[in-house]
Amino acid sequence: MKFFIDTANLEDIKEAQAMGVLDGVTTNPSLMAKEGIAGKENILQHYLNICNIVDGDVSAEVISTDYEGMIREGEELAALHKQIVVKLPMIEAGVKACKYFSSKGIRTNVTLVFSAGQALLAAKAGATYVSPFLGRLDDISTDGMHLIAEIREIYDNYNYETQILSASIRHTMHVVNCAKIGSDVMTGPLSAIKGLLKHPLTDIGLKQFVEDAKKMNL
Ligand code: E4P
Repeated sequence: MKFFIDTANLEDIKEAQAMGVLDGVTTNPSLMAKEGIAGKENILQHYLNICNIVDGDVSAEVISTDYEGMIREGEELAALHKQIVVKLPMIEAGVKACKYFSSKGIRTNVTLVFSAGQALLAAKAGATYVSPFLGRLDDISTDGMHLIAEIREIYDNYNYETQILSASIRHTMHVVNCAKIGSDVMTGPLSAIKGLLKHPLTDIGLKQFVEDAKKMNL
């Protein structure tokens, strides 16, 4: 399973990259705003900065909600850097734009997906990635992981190449369960990635090894 980090924070991206386990980055307008990135030039420069840190795909989301606007923005984003993936909302104009970009060989990530039907449409439109929002479903007492399993089953039935990019990850067990179900990618915060390191028996065991190593007079 590929690991993407879901942030526009350059320090978090650098830290995950330095661990050697990072395969890409996802951003959205809320994450960009959180970092205080404003103005077209600054936004484009920030995407370039991210591409220069990480080796893999970087999802950059269009702001437009109409077809023509999505095409204009998406083409500009895709031309910015070869690692950019155009992120489009799961609305009719977004599906249409996804079909347009896939016919041009431009990679896409269809976002704000909350049902198996929406994921089916994204695959039909040739999306590179589909982003079901696991955590936001869990937030409203709905089983987000069940949606990931449904999409896996549908995509496997027809050998769709669209990759399941489980998004809105909140914690380490989301990551582990996504891997068990067969999600192709997960995108989460740095805390969900670094949380995977933790086990008290590892800490206790290492403390003992360090103590005993002192007796070896190295
Ligand atoms: C990723 O592509 C999504 O934009 C993101 O995972 C949403 O996460 P949130 O529900 O924590 O805002």
